[in-house]
Amino acid sequence: MKANKEQWSSKFGFIMAAAGSAIGLGNLWKFPYITGTSGGAVFVVIYIVFLLLLGIPILLSELAIGRYAGMNAIDSCARVHPKWGFAGAFGIIGAFGVMASYSVVGGWVIKYIINSFTDTGMGADYFTEYSAKSFEPILWMALFLIITCAIVTGGVANGIEKVSSVLLPILIVFLVGIMIYCLTLPNAIEGVKFFLIPDFSEITSVSDFMHILFNAMGQVFFSLSLGMGTLITYGSYLPKDNNLAASTVIIVTLDTIIAIISGLAILPAVFSFGFEPTEGFGLIFKTLPAVFSRMSGGTIIAAAFFILVLFAALTSSISLLEVIVSWVCSKTKLTRLKAAIAVTSVIFITSCFASLSVGAIPDIRIGSMSLFEFFSFFSDKIIMPLGGFFICILTGYVWGINNAAKEISNDGKLKFTMRRLFSFAIRYAAPLLIAVIFVSSIISIVQ
Ligand code: PHE
Repeated sequence: MKANKEQWSSKFGFIMAAAGSAIGLGNLWKFPYITGTSGGAVFVVIYIVFLLLLGIPILLSELAIGRYAGMNAIDSCARVHPKWGFAGAFGIIGAFGVMASYSVVGGWVIKYIINSFTDTGMGADYFTEYSAKSFEPILWMALFLIITCAIVTGGVANGIEKVSSVLLPILIVFLVGIMIYCLTLPNAIEGVKFFLIPDFSEITSVSDFMHILFNAMGQVFFSLSLGMGTLITYGSYLPKDNNLAASTVIIVTLDTIIAIISGLAILPAVFSFGFEPTEGFGLIFKTLPAVFSRMSGGTIIAAAFFILVLFAALTSSISLLEVIVSWVCSKTKLTRLKAAIAVTSVIFITSCFASLSVGAIPDIRIGSMSLFEFFSFFSDKIIMPLGGFFICILTGYVWGINNAAKEISNDGKLKFTMRRLFSFAIRYAAPLLIAVIFVSSIISIVQ
């Protein structure tokens, strides 16, 4: 096992890269549509509770394990306990699953950027027609993968950190502007109510409620890049004096703010233009062009916005690819460049099938889901919660709270004020919650 030699060049750079991994399509694309299909504000409330009970403790544990061991995800877990390398392996499998759907959506975003420049009309039906094509979406998807691969090849400090540090702040400013505009649209208030005022009367059965819990849990894992070694890998590049607890709080706060701003931009627009919040994964691709077409200078704003979405997607996809590449590099003699190309090629093949399953060849299904939906179900509802569960057990029982706290407090140099809460969450609340929601949801799906 060899330790990573690379390190983040600054604290700010690390925060930007880790927040860049967390902030991505999960916030801008997935959060608004899952909120729409999962009952609005009730989902948002549960999501926030899960952030506190699952998100923060697991993220902190992953950073601590990564920095303690200083190796790729699998070897870092194995360093904590030789038999526990498998806890990091979820990342390698999960990253393939996330990348399959991520690159398809990344390709759609690139197409929307091009359309904004060429002024191609993007009415409500446009998305359905476009995503059902066979060749073109694959072309743009390939471009998305090539860009991801090129940045990862640049290495940690030069590639990932530099790109994230510049783009993330611009994205935040831009998104706030769009949110303010959307909030002033006619009837926007209905969207705000849907997003912020929980209506429990809509939930009529236990299975409805379990469905929301399952979605909220999956979204916490997906949005924070948890349970699949990303943050173990990023933590492994951290210097020993970083305040892990403070970094965790900043990353989770930034990620949540972006998700909320995105919800407050998209859902009011959905109501204002008479779309259905339950639209599903095409939601932002149908709603946003309608918003932009009303704005003066809308085409430029649309292009700029989709470029920023692309950047947010890239800062996440590079973290996904990095998980696999750093592992391949440490296990084989391949150079970073060769490893990145090999891994990207495999992802390309799975992503082609995912892309085709959206419309061109709808028969590519697993059960009731298209392959595209299955990949995202498999990664954020199965692999990530399982990975997260094992991280809880590894930290809470195998490594032990004392050892974890030693790492988190930088050998006692920092005060770890939330230690008791952390211990409660990581040993009891989080694993129990994951187990109960996971098992009952799988049972209801299988039935
Ligand atoms: N967190 C990213 C997003 O919200 C997706 C992601 C998941 C990235 C897992 C890395 C690992 O878009």
